Amino acid sequence: KQIILSGIQPTGTFTLGNYIGAIRNWVKLQEEYDCAYMIADMHALTVRQDPVKLRQQILSAFAVLLACGVDPKKSLTFIQSQVHQHAELNWVLACNTQFGELSRMTQFKDKSAKHPENINAGLFTYPALMAADILLYQANLVPVGVDQKQHLEITRDIANRFNNNYGQTFTIPEPYIPEIGAKVMSLAEPTKKMSKSDENQNAFITILDAPEVIIKKFKRAVTDSDMEIRYAEGKDGINNLMSIYSTITGDSYETIERDFSGKGYGDFKTAVGEAVAEALRPIRENYDRLIKDKAYLEETYHDGAQKAAYLAEKTMRKVYRKVGFLAK
Ligand code: TYM
Repeated sequence: KQIILSGIQPTGTFTLGNYIGAIRNWVKLQEEYDCAYMIADMHALTVRQDPVKLRQQILSAFAVLLACGVDPKKSLTFIQSQVHQHAELNWVLACNTQFGELSRMTQFKDKSAKHPENINAGLFTYPALMAADILLYQANLVPVGVDQKQHLEITRDIANRFNNNYGQTFTIPEPYIPEIGAKVMSLAEPTKKMSKSDENQNAFITILDAPEVIIKKFKRAVTDSDMEIRYAEGKDGINNLMSIYSTITGDSYETIERDFSGKGYGDFKTAVGEAVAEALRPIRENYDRLIKDKAYLEETYHDGAQKAAYLAEKTMRKVYRKVGFLAK
């Protein structure tokens, strides 16, 4: 069986973008692959976090993953910081990653421009930690949204370089990016990615938003001055709504165009809002139940961390031997 690994940062509630671009596919893939899914809490430290809030967010993020249908009986489900091998491999890989290639990362450029007061070393070497996450488990496939593509490319470069220098050690992973929904756009500015750090609350839907809130936000979604519900160049708002509707209902763009021909944007926005609200309803209900069951959550992430550490340690032993460290 092929191995899958992916991760998500526990910063703020997850958005519809996280769900459509990543988590939804994680749930589907667990039927066919050996999957490992983690809360990337170590990555979250690249931005200043309030410790009390972060602790809550990690637990809540873990509960959301389970609520979405990530099944700890089928998939390895864990929290990154609880598996110390991630930090260990990060160091070795950082020493095999060049300043120049890290400088070219668009996410580093964007984030350092946005937070000039905190351009820390972790933010810069972040791709080495992400490479460690993936390579520790010898993953073949990494299901992500399009914004993570460059990080996957550098992961492949680092892995290939390491294999060439030290001999075959790591599986070279492939990104797994959905055809539709790999970049869900902001509802307020549909040329921008939907992001949980957006200041405008109407720009994004969170997985835990109440149905009425979801429907209201879709009603306010920015579209264009045209009238036709048609997937076309320049119709970013409508294109975004169509791709969301398509991933949720399974309808093709042709079907949507046919079903909504002659109808107005208002009708379509209501339909999208209702479809999304309906799709997220069971997740919210699962979450409300799970978040109260602290004992179950704790047991589940402890168990996940133990199993993950076992696999990670196998790779780590190999890596330490290859680079020339002594056996313990
Ligand atoms: P993060 O936490 O920013 O996002 C988690 C996943 O959600 C996807 N995503 C989107 N997809 C479609 N449309 C959007 N608007 C949208 N916004 C986010 C992201 O592409 C991602 O797949 N560095 C990673 C976390 C990570 C990771 C890993 C991922 C850490 N280690 C190892 C894969 C493998 C991140 O910050 O994702």
